[in-house]
Amino acid sequence: MRIKDMKLLIEKNRSYRRFDFGRKISEDVLVELVDVARMSQSAANLQPLSYITINKEEMVAKVHKHMRWAGYLPDWNGPVDAERPVAYIIVLGNTEVKQTYREVDAGLAMQNMCICAAAEGIGSCMIGNLDKKILVELLEIPEHYEIIYAVAFGFPVEQVQMVPFAGDVKYYRNENQNHFVPKRLLKDVLIKRV
Ligand SMILES: Cc1cc2nc3c(=O)[nH]c(=O)nc-3n(C[C@H](O)[C@H](O)[C@H](O)COP(=O)(O)O)c2cc1C
Repeated sequence: MRIKDMKLLIEKNRSYRRFDFGRKISEDVLVELVDVARMSQSAANLQPLSYITINKEEMVAKVHKHMRWAGYLPDWNGPVDAERPVAYIIVLGNTEVKQTYREVDAGLAMQNMCICAAAEGIGSCMIGNLDKKILVELLEIPEHYEIIYAVAFGFPVEQVQMVPFAGDVKYYRNENQNHFVPKRLLKDVLIKRV
């Protein structure tokens, strides 16, 4: 695979928030994604992360209630029932492991999972705004783990398109509920070539 192929995949790997609830994701796929996360780079190779996969409909529904969606779209209360994610992976920090760059490790692990999911046509959304306290109880997470993030998965039913940044980082939607996400231009982020 060349950069141009990877670039296409990364272009496709947007944050999706509306999914086909009728199209499920098998536990095998979720386990495969965790295996990818496990192989990710880790500061000092400490590997402080652990995971919980969730694809049983009842548990997905319970967990889903504690995620907060799209802060820049205050009039949108998250996906309607027919468009909910069909799976979640919860990213946990093991508090018995030294806490060095844990957030970076989590980002790398999530990104690798999301890119691999995108390669299968699966959309995802990283969720940092979630009710960790309730979820710890709900999922009966042992004491020495903390929830860091969740990643929602499903087959997208929305178009997400990148548009050139024009002074505002806020994503928005048009009347067809298509989603637009501003990205700073290459010429603005590549500040020097020496
Ligand atoms: C660390 C992190 C936490 C995020 N948390 C949330 C969240 O709680 N809820 C949500 O709807 N989106 C969340 N997102 C998705 C971002 O809003 C999204 O990445 C951003 O709007 C850019 O869109 P893109 O991913 O399609 O490029 C999060 C993304 C990252 C990287």
